[in-house]
Amino acid sequence: MCSKMTFSNHIFLLLSFVCAATLFSGVESKTKDNLSKGFTVTPDSSVTSFQPLLTDSNANFSLGLLRVNRTQLALVILHLPSSQQLWIARTSRLPRWSPSTHVFFNGSLVISDQHSRVLWSTNTDGDRVYLSNTSNLQINGPDSILWQSFHFPSDTLLENQNFTSNMTLNSSNGLYYMHLGYNFIGLYAKFTPHSGQDQIYYKRKAMEIKAKIVKGQGPIYASVRSDGFLGMYQNETAPIDIQSFSSYQQYNPGNRILKIESDGNLKGYYWTGSNWILDYEAVSEFCELPRSCGAYGLCHPSKGCSCLNNETDFSSGKCEAPENNSGDFCSLRNSKFKILRKSGVELPYKELMEYEKMNTLEQCERSCKESCKCWGAVYSNSSGFCYRIEYPIQTLVSVGDDSKVGYFKVRESAGKSKMAIGLVIGAVLLCGVILVFAWIGVTWRRKRRASRAYVEGDSGVVGVGPYKDLASESFGSIELSERR
Ligand SMILES: *[C@@H]1O[C@H](CO)[C@@H](O)[C@H](O)[C@H]1NC(C)=O
Ligand SMILES: *[C@@H]1O[C@H](CO)[C@@H](O)[C@H](O)[C@H]1NC(C)=O
Ligand SMILES: *[C@@H]1O[C@H](CO)[C@@H](O)[C@H](O)[C@H]1NC(C)=O
Ligand SMILES: *[C@@H]1O[C@H](CO)[C@@H](O)[C@H](O)[C@H]1NC(C)=O
Ligand SMILES: *[C@@H]1O[C@H](CO)[C@@H](O)[C@H](O)[C@H]1NC(C)=O
Ligand SMILES: *[C@@H]1O[C@H](CO)[C@@H](O)[C@H](O)[C@H]1NC(C)=O
Ligand SMILES: *[C@@H]1O[C@H](CO)[C@@H](O)[C@H](O)[C@H]1NC(C)=O
Ligand SMILES: *[C@@H]1O[C@H](CO)[C@@H](O)[C@H](O)[C@H]1NC(C)=O
Ligand SMILES: *[C@@H]1O[C@H](CO)[C@@H](O)[C@H](O)[C@H]1NC(C)=O
Ligand SMILES: *[C@@H]1O[C@H](CO)[C@@H](O)[C@H](O)[C@H]1NC(C)=O
Ligand SMILES: *[C@@H]1O[C@H](CO)[C@@H](O)[C@H](O)[C@H]1NC(C)=O
Ligand SMILES: *[C@@H]1O[C@H](CO)[C@@H](O)[C@H](O)[C@H]1NC(C)=O
Repeated sequence: MCSKMTFSNHIFLLLSFVCAATLFSGVESKTKDNLSKGFTVTPDSSVTSFQPLLTDSNANFSLGLLRVNRTQLALVILHLPSSQQLWIARTSRLPRWSPSTHVFFNGSLVISDQHSRVLWSTNTDGDRVYLSNTSNLQINGPDSILWQSFHFPSDTLLENQNFTSNMTLNSSNGLYYMHLGYNFIGLYAKFTPHSGQDQIYYKRKAMEIKAKIVKGQGPIYASVRSDGFLGMYQNETAPIDIQSFSSYQQYNPGNRILKIESDGNLKGYYWTGSNWILDYEAVSEFCELPRSCGAYGLCHPSKGCSCLNNETDFSSGKCEAPENNSGDFCSLRNSKFKILRKSGVELPYKELMEYEKMNTLEQCERSCKESCKCWGAVYSNSSGFCYRIEYPIQTLVSVGDDSKVGYFKVRESAGKSKMAIGLVIGAVLLCGVILVFAWIGVTWRRKRRASRAYVEGDSGVVGVGPYKDLASESFGSIELSERR
């Protein structure tokens, strides 16, 4: 975040300019802290980065239209001095930056596209849209808050924002998220999307020093506090856990955020007035991140990355082709793989992974080989623990201990599915040929029968020979792939 300062500075200058221009042009309604029913706006084609709609009373935060990749629009809340994005209205796809896209408030705050389709809505019937000085966007009814962005966080939590057990904090690339368990904060990776089986790679269990979790007192929640810690609570009286930041006990109200980054780390920052300073990192070792060196990568603590396959150069960019690295091996089309072994490797978060005790490495490997959901296994000869990896292989960590051995499947399909289609087409063609031959044969035989009283001839078999071979070959390949 901090390395982007020059870029941010540019945006900041640009934003200041836009704000100033708006102020001085007399269009004051655009920088108010609330919107009322009937408000509607379309993106301005002359805006290149950000079109503010609402700004909080301290001018720290602004809700507005962000121009993404020149052609697209996102409704976001920015921290104005740094252009740091704090919240986004998550739509399934981004609408176009064009006059036909509308953002309006009719009781609900709504984004609609050129066909007037609703892409996003708060589904409320409120009176006002208000942006608080803590960056909480609210839809207010006559005497209550009907909707608030603090209940629908994106990838960032603001200071004192309550993160409850029915929320997820999703990284902007959608690969990682934070979620609360009964007594812990967990970070999860979506290695196999849509499987519902996400891998936990970080877990912070509540220490319960100042307060204990009481059964039946409701779920826990987490919150970043002004004096520099990430707390877990069951009620406000006392935290059940404290994770202190570098600036612990330095009271710095309103200036802290917690963000789940695109690499899966969870980081805390505080605003100095000109800069966001890194203040906390959940995962402090680079190699402990779930994808530190990418798929089939090998992370060497404080020495960087290489590939599990020592014949692949890490600097080439990818250790294995990503198209070969998804799903599982359960469909016939995708059942082929070759095997890669590497000793002296360990899973980065093995203490959070399930294992089974086994007597030998062979037993461990076999249990993975025989399961089509298994992508690999790591066996520790000293403990006898066999860790089966049921998602595409990510990064492993290099350890000095050669008795820790990894077994990895590497997908070998691609061309194979084309071959299967080829086989089917071939078979269909052959059938056609056989039918034609059979027809010719029948006609010919009829003719022959007509001329002579002769009952013999297996002309059809001519075609069946190669057809049988072909069939046995394809059966063979099925058996082969099943046996693997
Ligand atoms: C909303 O903004 C108007 C000015 O546009 C202001 O007069 C009014 O007090 C504001 N209302 C609230 C509830 O903040
Ligand atoms: C913007 O474009 C870049 C490069 O073309 C792409 O990687 C990125 O995903 C795009 N962003 C969005 C939000 O579509
Ligand atoms: C606001 O507009 C949306 C989209 O046109 C519509 O579905 C919704 O019913 C409207 N809400 C209210 C409170 O009028
Ligand atoms: C934010 O607004 C609240 C009232 O809504 C006020 O009590 C508080 O002092 C304000 N904080 C700052 C930093 O302006
Ligand atoms: C967070 O939750 C506590 C306890 O329920 C509550 O007192 C506080 O107002 C909440 N904070 C926000 C910002 O909603
Ligand atoms: C989450 O749970 C709280 C109570 O713990 C509830 O008030 C809130 O409405 C829930 N939010 C969502 C989005 O379901
Ligand atoms: C965030 O991730 C969770 C867990 O995968 C998912 O259920 C949820 O739909 C995601 N939310 C958004 C807004 O993408
Ligand atoms: C809050 O929790 C503490 C200890 O966990 C308990 O003693 C206290 O009664 C609780 N307070 C409320 C209001 O539930
Ligand atoms: C918000 O504004 C106040 C007053 O201008 C300032 O002291 C504070 O540092 C700002 N906070 C952030 C996060 O920019
Ligand atoms: C790669 O590792 C294998 C054993 O794991 C070893 O036999 C081979 O020599 C290594 N090749 C290179 C280029 O280091
Ligand atoms: C594994 O451990 C057994 C004894 O538990 C030992 O005999 C064997 O040599 C070890 N193998 C390796 C590769 O370290
Ligand atoms: C990955 O797939 C490509 C085709 O998409 C294929 O050419 C290549 O051999 C595969 N790589 C491996 C390591 O199997």
